[in-house]
Amino acid sequence: MNEPKPRVLVVDDEPNLRKVLGALLQQAGHEVVTEADGESALAQVRALPRGTFDVVITDLRMPGMDGMQLLEALLDEDPGLPVILLTAHGSVDTAVEAVKSGAFDFLEKPFEREQIGKVLDKAVATRRRSGPRTEPRREAMLPAGEGSDGEVAKAKDFGMVGRSEAMVTVKEMIHTVAASPSTVLITGESGTGKELVARALHMGSERRHLPFIRVNCAAIPAGLVESELFGHERGAFTGAVSSRQGRFELADGGTLFLDEVSEIPLEIQVKLLRAIQESEFERVGGVKTLRVDVRLIAATNRDLEDEIKAKRFREDLYYRLNVVPIHLPPLRERPEDVEPLLEHFLQRSNERLGKSVAGFTAEALEALRSYTWQGNIRELENLVERMVLFASGERIGVDELPDAFTSDEPGDGDGDGEGDEASSLRAIRLPLDSLGLDLKEAVKAGSRRIEEALIREALAQTEANVTRSARKLGISRRSLQSKMKELGLREEIAKQGGVSPSSEGED
Ligand SMILES: Nc1ncnc2c1ncn2[C@@H]1O[C@H](COP(=O)(O)OP(=O)(O)OP(=O)(O)O)[C@@H](O)[C@H]1O
Ligand SMILES: [Mg+2]
Repeated sequence: MNEPKPRVLVVDDEPNLRKVLGALLQQAGHEVVTEADGESALAQVRALPRGTFDVVITDLRMPGMDGMQLLEALLDEDPGLPVILLTAHGSVDTAVEAVKSGAFDFLEKPFEREQIGKVLDKAVATRRRSGPRTEPRREAMLPAGEGSDGEVAKAKDFGMVGRSEAMVTVKEMIHTVAASPSTVLITGESGTGKELVARALHMGSERRHLPFIRVNCAAIPAGLVESELFGHERGAFTGAVSSRQGRFELADGGTLFLDEVSEIPLEIQVKLLRAIQESEFERVGGVKTLRVDVRLIAATNRDLEDEIKAKRFREDLYYRLNVVPIHLPPLRERPEDVEPLLEHFLQRSNERLGKSVAGFTAEALEALRSYTWQGNIRELENLVERMVLFASGERIGVDELPDAFTSDEPGDGDGDGEGDEASSLRAIRLPLDSLGLDLKEAVKAGSRRIEEALIREALAQTEANVTRSARKLGISRRSLQSKMKELGLREEIAKQGGVSPSSEGED
């Protein structure tokens, strides 16, 4: 089998360096993508399936997100991705610090062609040896470049779990239309799996070795949407200091996923329509007409027909996008899927957190099945991860579920706390030296530390109010109380001035 060309992401705010380095690497037989800043580089890595890039080469000093910050974010995203830092002559201290923080290597500027070649070869070899390609992606997707066609088509239905009639139909649809170039419009509430379906369509197609580019249309300022989609020439507008490829160009040969498509401003909708109808467009400020081969997938959680009535969405564009509609019903309308999903996420959380929770008690299962999942599968996924993290027994009981599951009030969706929790999880770094050899043990110890840190943070934020802390953590008061006991936190708090009165009581 022919090894695919190594794909390198070059990040530098200096256009000249990008050009020179890009040309050099291309000559050496690498595929090169360049980005001018850390933020776009990170977005690029996140948008593409894990394993798309073999190496990242980034400048250390850049305005905005610098090389060290980018390194840290990339390691969070994909710990196996080698990152090489370019440092100014004489800044050995920072370079050493970078390597300690997980950089693959560093190169002092100016560097020799052979030097960079050597480091790069080593990085690519390491990546390919340990590779991201055998590791499941976060959403249990098949990574790019795995297996033969038959295997890909069968493989766990692209990580899509569910046995409801609706899910079975969706999976069949994916198998039927993945290979075709038809545009697909995916609709469904937030957290129902739209992005997962989009990625499955890409992975099920011949395009899977080429880029999958996601554009979150809701996250781009209105004035930048056009240049984001179609690119711009140098000087096209203030701030356009160099020319830049748009998402259509980056997706050439692959799939372009327009997420939250309803948020594209009306005046850009016309241009998008033309790009779809005629398969051609111009960069902002450009005169050359460009043609690309892109499979388009769009998704929205809004009712586009309502948007058309309200004159916020063009009807002609809607018909162009809605060639193959795929609708994902909310989880509360397919309760049969709850149990397999719980099972799926339980297994994954066990693996990730080094735990061995066996499952849920019958009573807890019943409560979970009849719950109104406002935040859909994302809410369920987050809940399971939290439950597994905090679980003390073999099975998760109804006592350990957040109070919303035992009262009649509907869930409040995927709301508050998730962001906080995610950021505190990221904030906890484990010194590598303390990991020792047993990775499983290390993961376990790590998750205990995360658990304790989260509990401490929740208590600090609520002035040690147990009820409010439990709510913040998404667990029951009972679980929190027993955890606090285990960790000796009750004594600690009592010493510091006591637990607030509302947190005592039923014990
Ligand atoms: N059928 C499924 N099987 C397994 N995991 C799923 C399934 N559907 C969704 N998920 C997981 O649930 C989470 C939310 O899914 P996804 O991001 O695709 O939803 P979305 O519809 O794009 O939501 P939003 O509109 O909020 O962006 C993801 O982690 C995804 O992997
Ligand atoms: Mg989404």
